[in-house]
Amino acid sequence: MTMKIAVAGGTGTVGRKVVAAVESAGHEAVVLSPSRGVDLVTGEGLDAALAGCAGVIDVANTAVWDRESAERFFGTVATNLVEGCARHGVGHLVVLGIVGTDEVDLGYYYGKRLQERIVSEGRVPWTILRATQFFEFAEQNTARAEGDVVELMPMLSQPVATEDVAERLVELVTGEPQGRARPLAGQEKLTLAEMARLLFERTGDRREIRVRELGEVGAQLASGALTPSGEHDRGKRTFADYLAALEV
Ligand SMILES: NC(=O)c1ccc[n+]([C@@H]2O[C@H](COP(=O)([O-])OP(=O)(O)OC[C@H]3O[C@@H](n4cnc5c(N)ncnc54)[C@H](OP(=O)(O)O)[C@@H]3O)[C@@H](O)[C@H]2O)c1
Repeated sequence: MTMKIAVAGGTGTVGRKVVAAVESAGHEAVVLSPSRGVDLVTGEGLDAALAGCAGVIDVANTAVWDRESAERFFGTVATNLVEGCARHGVGHLVVLGIVGTDEVDLGYYYGKRLQERIVSEGRVPWTILRATQFFEFAEQNTARAEGDVVELMPMLSQPVATEDVAERLVELVTGEPQGRARPLAGQEKLTLAEMARLLFERTGDRREIRVRELGEVGAQLASGALTPSGEHDRGKRTFADYLAALEV
């Protein structure tokens, strides 16, 4: 049976892949994002977009790093989505979280913790999938840097393909609400600096990579807390597959 699935952040890095996965599973995707006329912070356009949807996948994001801004964004978006789903009888809200966010005190992660709390205490049946950093994370973190030196967080990850995340989110939204789903990670552990070095080798980027000193938070980021410690699923694709497919 064809379902109408709303994808919050459906124009983003993983969101585009989610929309493709929804459609290739034979369902209809409705994109909730400001560039498509739906703002999940103000609520503009949300009611019209949610009408008739069976499920929502939330992969909306914003580039804020301090705790206050991250809590404001993720808290408001989660509240608006829970209330919107409840108003329209949407039966399943699936949210993408990040492995290890309660063990690492990065400002952004406080927003992710609040998002999970609002959804898990809300009145709409829910599933939270925690995933590790995307293969695109190296590109996301190096694209912003200006000058010849790129400074990166001292982060240990087990990065995963956005296609693998997208496929899993679609399996989840079309199934029964699970609460906390088994986390999803990639196949190998890599530091963010290693990912960036491999990316730069592939793209011919000659900028120097340095690892930033980040004190206590840096130690938490490097500790392996962002890699899954218990039972988890592994994506099919490798970082080498991702690099090989890049158009340079
Ligand atoms: N990046 C990672 O490595 C990683 C790893 C694990 C989990 N996650 C989680 O995955 C999610 C998506 O991350 P991403 O890197 O794919 O994001 P992204 O590329 O930054 O995309 C952000 C998306 O959110 C939309 N958006 C921004 N403000 C909005 C608003 N007010 N209302 C509705 N939509 C809004 C954007 O829409 P427009 O295009 O219209 O601006 C865009 O579609 C986040 O929850 C993030 O925490 C990320």
